[in-house]
Parts: sequence; C-alpha cells; structure tokens
Amino acid sequence: MCGLIGYVGRRADRNVQEVLLDGLSSLEYRGYDSAGMAVSNSSLAVYKREGDLSALEGALPDEPLDGVAGIGHTRWSTHGSPSDANAHPHTDCTGRVAVAHNGIIDNYRALRESLETDGHEFDSETDTEVIPHLIESALERGDDAETAFRWAIDRLEGSYAVAATYAGHETVYAARNRSPLVVGIDDDGYFLASDVPAFLEYTDAVTYLDDGHVASIRPSGVEITDERGACVDVSVETVEWEPEDAGKSGYEHYTLKEIHEQPRAIRNCLRGRPQELTGDVSIDALEDVERPDRIQFVACGTSYHASLYGARLFRERSVPATAFLASEYDADAVPVDDGTLVVGVTQSGETADTLRALRDANRAGATTLAVTNVVGSSAPRETDHAMYIRAGPEIGVAATKTFVTQQVALAMLSSGLTGERSREVVAALRDLPDRIQSVLDESRARTIASEYAAADAYFVIGRGYSAPVALEGALKMKEITYKHAEGFPAGELKHGPLALVTERTPVFAVISRDSNAETMLGNVNEVASRGAPVIAVTDASEAVAADVDHVLRIPETHRRFTPILANVQLQLVSYWMANQLDRSIDKPRNLAKSVTVE
Ligand code: F6R
Repeated sequence: MCGLIGYVGRRADRNVQEVLLDGLSSLEYRGYDSAGMAVSNSSLAVYKREGDLSALEGALPDEPLDGVAGIGHTRWSTHGSPSDANAHPHTDCTGRVAVAHNGIIDNYRALRESLETDGHEFDSETDTEVIPHLIESALERGDDAETAFRWAIDRLEGSYAVAATYAGHETVYAARNRSPLVVGIDDDGYFLASDVPAFLEYTDAVTYLDDGHVASIRPSGVEITDERGACVDVSVETVEWEPEDAGKSGYEHYTLKEIHEQPRAIRNCLRGRPQELTGDVSIDALEDVERPDRIQFVACGTSYHASLYGARLFRERSVPATAFLASEYDADAVPVDDGTLVVGVTQSGETADTLRALRDANRAGATTLAVTNVVGSSAPRETDHAMYIRAGPEIGVAATKTFVTQQVALAMLSSGLTGERSREVVAALRDLPDRIQSVLDESRARTIASEYAAADAYFVIGRGYSAPVALEGALKMKEITYKHAEGFPAGELKHGPLALVTERTPVFAVISRDSNAETMLGNVNEVASRGAPVIAVTDASEAVAADVDHVLRIPETHRRFTPILANVQLQLVSYWMANQLDRSIDKPRNLAKSVTVE
C-alpha cells in the first residue's frame, strides 16, 4: 500500500531530495503505482509521476532540490486511477501547502462538495486533495500553519497518516488515525515514515505517534502534542533491525534472501523462550496470562494459515481454538467472555481487517494478544499483550520468513499457555534451524520448478498439521508465479476439486511419516490415477517413492513441525517457478505488503 516519508534537517552532506528518494526506494516493497515529493523552500517544489521511481527521478531537475523540509509518497491507487495528477503530494489552490496521505478519508465527498462550493478547484480524483484545500481555508481565515493543519485533520473521518509541508516553512506536520506513522530521530535530522525501513540507514532511534497526536518536525527538534495541543512526553525506542537486514545481500531477490534467512529468523524467535532443562516454554511479557478457556485467532492471508496451524496446536492441548479470517470475524456472533483470548496474528501489525477484529474483541471483553513482527505497530499497541516473532524486516511482498516464525511462535505459545513440559518438543524446536538449513542446502525444488513451470494449474494437498501449509503453498504460488494454484485438506479432494485434476495439473502432496501417511497415499493415488504428476514433500521418501513421480525430501522432526520444513520446499518451488517465468517476485502485480484498508 502507500508509503510515506518526511525529512527535516540541515546537514550539509544530506540533501533533502536524496533522503526522500532513498526513503521512497526503501518503501517500494509496499507496492505502488506512482510516486512524488515536495520540498519546501521560499516556494514549494512538487514533482510527481505515474509509474515507478525512475519516472519520478527522470522528472526531477538536474540540480537537487534545495530546502530543509520535504515529504515524499508512493501511491497505491484507491480513489482515482494511477496518473501524474492523482499522485501525491497534493497542493491547495495557491500552491502554499503540500500534503501526502496514506489511508482513506471516508467523508471526502462531503468535504470536497463544500470546498468546491466555496470556490476551491481540485486537480485530482483523490480523497487526499481535500486536506490541502481545508488547510488553505484555515490559512485564509488567518490561522497559523500548525492551527490550520490541526483544524483540517479534525475535519477528517477515516484512516489516515498525513504529512504536510508549507512554502517558506522549515516544518513538516504529521498526524495519524489508524494508520502507521513513526518518527526517526537522528543527531542532526528528523524523519517521518509509514515504515521504519524508510529511514533505517540513517537512524534506529524512533518514536511512534498515537492516534490524535500531531508531530511538528523542525530542524531544531520534534514536538508532539495531543488533541488539545498540550505537549506529550514520548519514549524513544531503538529498533533492533540492522540496515543490511533491509538489503538484498547479493541475492537476486529479497524473497530468496528471506527464504534463506529462515534459520536465523527462527533462532531469533526462539531466543530465551524454550527451556532445554525443564522442557517448558516461557514467553516474555506473557507470564501473567493464564490458560484461556478458549482461543480465537483473527488474521488474513498467510497469517491466517499460520493461525489455522496455531489453532490445531491448541486444540491438541485441549483448549478449544478456532481461526477466523479477520474480515469475517464478528465478536457478537461467537462466544466471547473474559476467559476468551483473541490472538491477532499479523506480520505488519497494521492490517486493517485484523485491527478491526481485535478492536471488536477488546470491546466484547476478551483478553487480546498480538503476535507480530513490528515493534510499535498498531496491533501490539491496541492489545492487552504482545508476542514478537522477531523475523527482522521482510521486504518481499510475499510472506516467507515471517510465516515460518509465526508458526514457531504459535508452537511456543501453545506450549507456554498450556503449561506443556516436553523436552522432546523443546529439542525439536531447537533443531529446527539446522533442519531448515539442510532443506535449503539440498533442495531439488529448482529442478521440479523447471519441469512443471508450464503446467495449467497446481494443487497442494496435506492433512492435519500439514493442511494449513497446503493452503499457504498454493497462496505463495498464486502470488509470485501468477499461476492458478489451490490448496486443500487432502480429504476434500474427492468432494469436488478432483474434477479439475488432469495430466496438466501437478499435485504437491505433503506427507508426514508420523501422521496420516497411509491416508495421504490413498489421496495421492486418487490424483495419480487421473494422470496428474505427483510431487511428494515428505520425510518418508522410501515409503512413498513408488507411488509418486518425484520426491522433495525433508528431514525427520517432531510431527508438529513437519509442515514447517515442508513449507520451505514449497516456497522454493514457487520461487524458482516464478524466477523461470520472469515474474516480478519481490513486488507481485496488484499486491501490497501492508493492507491498511478494510
Ligand atoms: C501473503 C501475504 C499476505 C499477508 C496478509 C496479512 O504472502 O503476505 O497474505 O499475510 O496481507 O498481513 P499481516 O500479516 O501483515 O497482517
């Protein structure tokens, strides 16, 4: 979705335009279709272009823009098609103020009508453009820049992160409502962004804005004030991510790099939590959470697949648990009381559907927990408790290392909250990074991918703990290969999808030695007898080899964790297939990393 960056600073070696371009390039992964920037000097210099950043760079003058304060934006269209005019920043009629915005202004139609009646002329189809015109009205009445900004923000309904800069001012004003916004603090400069990687190469000191607060960022410092204009004391936190975490480290794509980072990500996720001597798992910050009467997971996409896996883990430990697609969750339609734990699983911590579901759960009296990757994001700020998956920044739009760390985190959560003591489980958790490394080192996924890259469609099947991974394997294929792929619990095949199986639809079957291997082989035979090539992803290669066309081996592990290893093979198949098909792997068409609208 859209990305926002702002910078205010006077360092001679740091030009505003370059900082904004660096920030925009670090935000590219969120997905966008146009980009722009505004730099404030005695007048405002505003440049914006449809297309990727190179189009914007091509439009900029040879000499870098001069100024102390600026804002930049990558736009992912919601109101109005991708075009130069609809790209941000937007300005008022006089060109005195420029505004960039993430989110959606729900009441923009009424605001626009009233502004047009007052004589304001609009250049774009966007909801955003009402903001500079509102500011202009306030300035015309005699308000100063900050008061005008506040007045405009007070008129907005919806979700927004807004940044504004004025001609002749050395300030960027910013505010948010249900949309991420973080301030970066350096010795001689201040940053503002929708996402930390936008300024991580300059500083790791951050403070997060709350809904309703306004940040005034000047070369002399940052002032944060509440709704009434009173100064707010904020804490400055250090982000643990390294700038190189956000780079490609020699890999052709972020997605491949992130697949290869999974052993390290899991080690980080495990750090200090499983106790080898006792076999129990202790999770920082969750010590006072009791075993719940029931658990409801709310999540979207890949995080929903991790939740399906998590719910099964809890059910096996005798805690009633259900995974809900967050967009379908209705706290009034399911039993929620103070014994209910609602767990929002969300990599970004900013997914609008998941946040909405968590807010409903809070209102209904549940205890809420965010399982997330992003410290300071909205989900952990709005829930009673937080557990971090510690995967590090994930730049590829398709979730890879964050899925695996979500699975590991939920495995630990299920042991931790149910008081399970199992040295066997803890030892298996500890061994997971090495097991994954051996899959990465020995995988034949690239060969399989090239053999089947021309197929019409793909199916992925699994049972029990492996059923969610079948769904995830198919989602990854769809996202990055643009090929049709469906995942099913294997037992469902014969209830309909079997009609689609032909010799041109390869089937990937996740078969675990310790669970359901026999039944899975029955399902494999159902598709093989219709001519479909079958690729088994399995820790039981000898037992299944005769029934399938190919085997992608995974090492043995505790049966709970077989799907974690199988998923790595499926990720690699998708990656190499997409690579062969020359797809835009890190930024698949139409997709955005962080989905901040419902
Ligand atoms: C798929 C993917 C998405 C996200 C979904 C939820 O690869 O990344 O399906 O999983 O948009 O995002 P988060 O986890 O940030 O809530």
